[in-house]
Amino acid sequence: MAETATATGRGTPAEPPGRQRVESVLPELREMWWETGVRARATAGLFAVFAELPRLLWAALAVSWRADRARTLVVAATTVGAGVMAAFGLLATQRVLVELFAGGPTADKVVAALPALTALAAVTAVRAGMATAMGYAQNGLSPKVDREVERGLFEVTTAVRLEAFDADAFADDMERASRGAESTTSLVQSSMNLLAGLAGLLAVAVAVVVIHPLLLAALLVATVPNAWASLRAGHLRYQTYAAGSVRRRRVWLLHRLMAERESAPELRSYGLRRFLLDQYDRVMSVETDIQLAMARRVTTTTTVGSMIAGLATTVVYLLLGLLLIDGQIPLAAAATCVVAVQSAQRSLSVVTFQIDRVYTEGQHFSDYTGFMTRAVAYLPDETTSSARDTPDQLREVHVDAVSLRYPDRDSPAVDQVTLTIQAGQTVAFVGENGSGKSTLAAMIAMLRAPTGGTIRWNGRPLSEWDVDALRDRIAVVTQEYHKWPFTAATNLAIGDIAAEPGQDRIEAAAARAVAHEMITELPHGYETLLDRTFANGQDLSGGQWQRITAARGFLRDAELLIMDEPSSALDPRAEDALFQAIRDRQGRVTTILITHRLANVRHADRIYVLHHGTLVEAGTHDELTAARGRYAELFALQAAGYDTTRGAATPPLPHQATAS
Ligand SMILES: Nc1ncnc2c1ncn2[C@@H]1O[C@H](COP(=O)(O)OP(=O)(O)OP(=O)(O)O)[C@@H](O)[C@H]1O
Ligand SMILES: [Mg+2]
Repeated sequence: MAETATATGRGTPAEPPGRQRVESVLPELREMWWETGVRARATAGLFAVFAELPRLLWAALAVSWRADRARTLVVAATTVGAGVMAAFGLLATQRVLVELFAGGPTADKVVAALPALTALAAVTAVRAGMATAMGYAQNGLSPKVDREVERGLFEVTTAVRLEAFDADAFADDMERASRGAESTTSLVQSSMNLLAGLAGLLAVAVAVVVIHPLLLAALLVATVPNAWASLRAGHLRYQTYAAGSVRRRRVWLLHRLMAERESAPELRSYGLRRFLLDQYDRVMSVETDIQLAMARRVTTTTTVGSMIAGLATTVVYLLLGLLLIDGQIPLAAAATCVVAVQSAQRSLSVVTFQIDRVYTEGQHFSDYTGFMTRAVAYLPDETTSSARDTPDQLREVHVDAVSLRYPDRDSPAVDQVTLTIQAGQTVAFVGENGSGKSTLAAMIAMLRAPTGGTIRWNGRPLSEWDVDALRDRIAVVTQEYHKWPFTAATNLAIGDIAAEPGQDRIEAAAARAVAHEMITELPHGYETLLDRTFANGQDLSGGQWQRITAARGFLRDAELLIMDEPSSALDPRAEDALFQAIRDRQGRVTTILITHRLANVRHADRIYVLHHGTLVEAGTHDELTAARGRYAELFALQAAGYDTTRGAATPPLPHQATAS
């Protein structure tokens, strides 16, 4: 305890070290999407569960039908068939018993029972065959359902507009949907098992009514209380699980903090080991009481359930005895009823278990279907895409009073920006952090749609051109580039994946971004896997990754190349080579360059200075320096850092008083 107090108290002398702070370290986490089903079942009453079952069963059948009609039909047919066979089996059993219980010599009785016995054997064999066929069809169905549902999900997640990922609700929705996709197979399986169980129950009921209607009463007494007890116990089990969810979430979080690669360096450098282990102990002990209380309730309910079941069976046997003595039913019927009750109870335990599963998995599946419906709002408008014109070679990009406001933001990230970029130009966007450079570039790259204004390609709005064809003409190196878990060669090739670039092109692009030598020095050269989670995978340094992403941008030699902070992690030599490669494009193809290293934009044909989303200055380096505005100020600040002739005192800079 004392250790923890010191560990957390360190560095914050104003705050009294102690338990209070320690316990607030892991506050209540968001409800986790993978617990939706369990939580719903823990809170739903039996009525609510039954009310939702038909819809869920129907949905499961529909998915299964879409995935594989033949197998769905086999499952349906065998389910019904097995039910019918179960009924026939009971009737045959009763016939056998009637013959055996009749008067006369045993040999004659056996001979008389022979046809019924044969029928019973046949029915049993057919039933077994059907069960095998059903199992086979179900097993084949699962992977197909899985694929159908998961592919549907990925089709949507890869197509939605980028802004969908900014909406908090969307990300959450999507996570739930992935869980829902995984649940679909279970939903389909348990729905089919449930239907099979219900068919079994129905079969028994029908057979019993055929034998003697009064026996139905006995059957109901034997099953209904039992069913209630099982469902109730299931409910409590889910409640127990849900009660432990806070603990599980915290353990999940602690697991990530203590056992994953990302946190490992800081865990060591800050000496967090004891602190985190202590948190773990705390979490694991805190909720044990709730768990114990729940365990007691579950035990009570299951015990009560078993007692009810035992009592009900006794009542049934008493009832049968009374009916027998009273001469209401023959002995054979009473004996068949005993068999029927056992059969019904077997089906019933299947049914109650599957009801819970259908309901919980169904909640996740509803998350999936809900997401698929809601995501439609985020899909790009493709209706007229095929009819749109293929863009011709870039002559001019015109940004006309373009604005973008991110959701939940008060002020626009880009505000009424107007500028024109001519083919062959190298232009630079400069400005302080958060001034809107990346956002503007993302709109030109068609990654984001402006919320105001229009961007024109050769005089026509982007929306009038075929989007895919336009994207083919643009290459983008984003500021937050992704480290793809592929080989070095593939990491470059994805810059123009459709063209399946050969090794020559890949190496040429790598050379332009000074990545070639570095890649050849890797253990397997271009074939080195760039992800440590794989066997023989390697990781790269930040700057090495940046060289790879820049090379990816060069690979296509696109008409318009957008490079957003391509050199932030590069060493001086690599940076120099990269900007040389960018300058090589000048006059031939178009480049938009975003960088804070202003020395590298001096050669740009035009420099656009953004501030709080608005375009505040535009011109060449010389023009902007002469204007002594914001650009001149930023440039002078940076240049002063390299000027060894100046003293320690900061030189007077233009605009310094107003700098924000
Ligand atoms: N996905 C987003 N959702 C909400 N706001 C965003 C998002 N991306 C950026 N912003 C906000 O928009 C503004 C402009 O961001 P942008 O990334 O365009 O700046 P930038 O000029 O590229 O900055 P930097 O030099 O740091 O890269 C900032 O205020 C930022 O907080
Ligand atoms: Mg940026």
